Amino acid sequence: MKVAVVTGASRGIGYAIANGLAAKGYQVVGISRNIEPGDPFALAIKADIADVDSHAMILSEIAAKFGRIDLLVNNAGVAPIKRMDILEVGAESFDRLMNINLRGPFFFTQLLVNFMLETRGGQEDINKAVIFITSVSAVASSPERAEYCISKAGLSMAAQVYADRLAATGISVYEIRPGVIYTDMTAGVKGKYDKKIADGLIPEGRWGQPEDIAKAVTALAGDEIPYSTGTVIEISGGMNIRHL
Ligand SMILES: NC(=O)c1ccc[n+]([C@@H]2O[C@H](COP(=O)([O-])OP(=O)(O)OC[C@H]3O[C@@H](n4cnc5c(N)ncnc54)[C@H](OP(=O)(O)O)[C@@H]3O)[C@@H](O)[C@H]2O)c1
Repeated sequence: MKVAVVTGASRGIGYAIANGLAAKGYQVVGISRNIEPGDPFALAIKADIADVDSHAMILSEIAAKFGRIDLLVNNAGVAPIKRMDILEVGAESFDRLMNINLRGPFFFTQLLVNFMLETRGGQEDINKAVIFITSVSAVASSPERAEYCISKAGLSMAAQVYADRLAATGISVYEIRPGVIYTDMTAGVKGKYDKKIADGLIPEGRWGQPEDIAKAVTALAGDEIPYSTGTVIEISGGMNIRHL
């Protein structure tokens, strides 16, 4: 049975991804700082992805239980606790976002990919993948949360470099760029985005739902889109369309 590791799996987009993958027959390892065992997780691990020193323990737990990893979804991420103008934002918030959104996933991927390479079997064991959940903020500026945009832009490039390095190994690497998705992360700015959506921010005219992202993950993780490593898929209801 294939094994998928999903970070930030306890809520929101990560939980929907875990459900989607479990429905496709994956054994799902869910990782979050707070997470309860049970459906849809075959294994739930409480860990802080920013704590790079804890990564080896996480991997040894997965390796002991399953002995293989087929898919890694780097989804865990946070917004700034308080939105601050780029001219005022402090180093503490900047470092927090870099550590959780970029440094943690960068090194977690390095460790798990090395394990995937060491443990992969023969021809039947190809179609492994790594998916980075970034954001439209990787390319859209928000001066009141610069550290978020910069962390996601960095993660976007991490996806490209991992895709480049791993292309010949059979591990495909993808970036999924969500737009405005209704989760705990955006609950506090619901009124603001309700108005923006009514004013035409999103061509498809609605909030994104976690399941929209989960469907993109399950499509990419299967073998239906071969020969496609390094691809960026934006799931944003058309926010990527430039229009006059
Ligand atoms: N919602 C949106 O509009 C939107 C748009 C674009 C991109 N995204 C990205 O999509 C991803 C998921 O966002 P979401 O909207 O689902 O957010 P969410 O509802 O706030 O969920 C975030 C998840 O990440 C986990 N997490 C946070 N910090 C962690 C850490 N240090 N270590 C391990 N797990 C951690 C949380 O669990 P714990 O708190 O228990 O650790 C939770 O499971 C994020 O990377 C976010 O930047 C979201």
